[in-house]
Amino acid sequence: MTDAAAKLMSRLGLDCPIFQAPMLGATTPELAAAVSNAGALGSWAGAGSDPEAIAGNVRRIRALTSRPFSVNLFVMEDRQPSPAELRLAQELLQPYRDSLHLGEARPLARYCQDYRAQIEALIELAPPLVSFTFNVLDRATVTRLRRAGCLVMGTATTAAEARAWEGAGADLVSAQGSEAGGHRGSFLKAFEESSVGLFALLPQMVRAVSIPVVAAGGLMDGGGIAASLLLGAGAAQLGTAFLCCPESGASPAWKRSLLAAQDGDTRITRAFSGRPARGIVNGFMDAMRPHEAERAELLSLWAGQGVGMMRSLPAGELVSTLRSELEQALPDLPSRAAGSLSG
Ligand SMILES: Cc1cc2nc3c(=O)[nH]c(=O)nc-3n(C[C@H](O)[C@H](O)[C@H](O)COP(=O)(O)O)c2cc1C
Repeated sequence: MTDAAAKLMSRLGLDCPIFQAPMLGATTPELAAAVSNAGALGSWAGAGSDPEAIAGNVRRIRALTSRPFSVNLFVMEDRQPSPAELRLAQELLQPYRDSLHLGEARPLARYCQDYRAQIEALIELAPPLVSFTFNVLDRATVTRLRRAGCLVMGTATTAAEARAWEGAGADLVSAQGSEAGGHRGSFLKAFEESSVGLFALLPQMVRAVSIPVVAAGGLMDGGGIAASLLLGAGAAQLGTAFLCCPESGASPAWKRSLLAAQDGDTRITRAFSGRPARGIVNGFMDAMRPHEAERAELLSLWAGQGVGMMRSLPAGELVSTLRSELEQALPDLPSRAAGSLSG
């Protein structure tokens, strides 16, 4: 581990270099707290919540655990779709709405939360770690979050994006490989030019920045975590692996699809939100393929390419299993980790 990673582990007080990824639509305070209580870093995705709801959820996490946890937001300007875009999306979706007896869709007042207001809430709440995706924050905002006592983590899909976050003053950066489930965090170039597999991306990012890099994308077991650490990561962040935990907010239908899916069953689509995201291919994704520039909402089955290794365990048990697999794969890791944790 790098010195910076050792300092990070020490500051966060983790027992193992494992982060549970923030996942909008799936992470709950219960999941984050169960992961943190097991010695890893639990995360809650706050992007869809207004400042009041963020405060309520952070209070709930704090009631459930005294260990460190993280909160995640999108760095995204609200964009009002044009009337023509809305009309086309409505036309494409009407058959689905009809089959669900939902009537006609009405345009929303706004299409995303005000992330600046959300950040003000985080500055007051000061969770131990805050993470961001979709863009890089300005240096002044990163400084305010850090002064409030938060460590700041950015998401990067290329070495250049990692450098941008380091330049903004982030404490650490997540390397999001192209295997990752959910939305791509790319912000400097189009996602097609930023789709690098984790094991190619990670060592390049580690060389490009001096802050700790957290590996993410397709990791499902302790062997994958060990391999990430050998490639220079300070920790590994797993999302899909936690989706089938009983504490996860994923719907039963989504969990069933995850448990049945195999490695080749996911693809990147823009059909659900207008932004590229990886999920299990379903009829809706196929039907919307010719219209992927448009916006839509229906059941999305976000999952990473490791989905064929899905396990349905309580979050605490999953963390202990990952930890013992990691110890088996890297027998000297516990002592190294313990040394850096206490140092
Ligand atoms: C269902 C789902 C929702 C996600 N939502 C978010 C989110 O709200 N914010 C974020 O930064 N990343 C989000 N991600 C991406 C994760 O942070 C992480 O990069 C990814 O889960 C790693 O790949 P894996 O799922 O193969 O482990 C999401 C991923 C999934 C699977």
